[in-house]
Amino acid sequence: MLQPESDESYEVIWDTIPYPAFVISKSNIIVTANSAAETYCLSSIRHIKNKPVANYLGANSIILNSVDQARNTLVSVTLYNVEVFWLNKSSSTHDVISAPMNSSDENVLLLFHPHGMSKKMNRSLTHRSAARSVTGMAAMLAHEIRNPLAGISGAAQLLESSVSLDDKELLEIVKTEVNRVESLIDRFQTFGDLTPIKQEPVNIHDILSQAKRAAGAGFAQKIEIVENYDPSLPLVKGDPDLLLQVVQNLLKNAAEAVPVASGQIIIETGFKQGVKLNIGNFAKENLPLQFSIIDNGPGVPEQIKEDLYDPFVSSKSTGSGLGLSLVSKIISDHGGVVEYSRVNERSIFSVLMPVWAE
Ligand SMILES: Nc1ncnc2c1ncn2[C@@H]1O[C@H](COP(=O)(O)OP(=O)(O)O)[C@@H](O)[C@H]1O
Ligand SMILES: [Mg+2]
Repeated sequence: MLQPESDESYEVIWDTIPYPAFVISKSNIIVTANSAAETYCLSSIRHIKNKPVANYLGANSIILNSVDQARNTLVSVTLYNVEVFWLNKSSSTHDVISAPMNSSDENVLLLFHPHGMSKKMNRSLTHRSAARSVTGMAAMLAHEIRNPLAGISGAAQLLESSVSLDDKELLEIVKTEVNRVESLIDRFQTFGDLTPIKQEPVNIHDILSQAKRAAGAGFAQKIEIVENYDPSLPLVKGDPDLLLQVVQNLLKNAAEAVPVASGQIIIETGFKQGVKLNIGNFAKENLPLQFSIIDNGPGVPEQIKEDLYDPFVSSKSTGSGLGLSLVSKIISDHGGVVEYSRVNERSIFSVLMPVWAE
């Protein structure tokens, strides 16, 4: 790696970073800022240095929360598409990154990245259209396969009375496989369902608890499931049945990922003001409501990360690869986004959604 020769070259690098960057101290004082920050703040470094960052962002800013979070967890925190209100400036949208600095004084690097739309969100948006085009195909396929399948299963039944004992075994295989395809088509058909979603006030905690109970009695019997709910969470706008399907799919994946002996799943909810998603050029969706399914499994395999939400993408021998594409479709129909991240050896699937408003 190229080593800067002196502190002076660090200064040069620091001032070359084209985005506003600040070093924030343990007590949230601005230690220093770079040249881009100077331009951004419309004041000199001398002026902003040693001032509480709250003077500029306001004491209740979520950016301050994320700086604190980065400092406390030693993990960098990114807020996507945040509208930043800097004192006396008109607001602008940034991805705001708070990164703990590897130093004993617990400083945090605060970086305002100008890209209004993060790559991650972009990906999720692409999935909206990908999911839509798959919807039509799903409906068609389901229809086209059902008929010949009914023929196969009818013929198998007729054969049953006349085949020899040896061949009965083969016939059993035909029947089992036909059943498998049928249940696959059933899942497909939900996917291809084009009826508009219900839009009613939903308490997401009810949905989460219901899914948790079902999972605990079924596929997640041996797994510890922790509920970590924000009691002040507002209602979400949506379709309770579909949202239940989302949670069930995420829980199922988590249960399939965790270690057999020490599996743990955390269901978490929270309210995060300022998470905004740009749709096209004008509309901006506010997605403050968040629920996450967190597991202590090994995480999504590297080779499928890019196509995680595409149908038929699966790393499991008996997986259909339809779970996450269904999740992605349902959530995008609700105007929300799904994100995958990996923090502290845990896999996190987070769903961000708009809240219910009269
Ligand atoms: N919680 C998770 N931990 C690790 N990998 C996951 C998790 N959730 C999903 N995946 C990965 O994503 C793939 C696709 O998931 P999904 O669409 O539900 O299909 P399926 O579960 O049938 O394989 C899985 O095969 C798995 O590799
Ligand atoms: Mg699955």
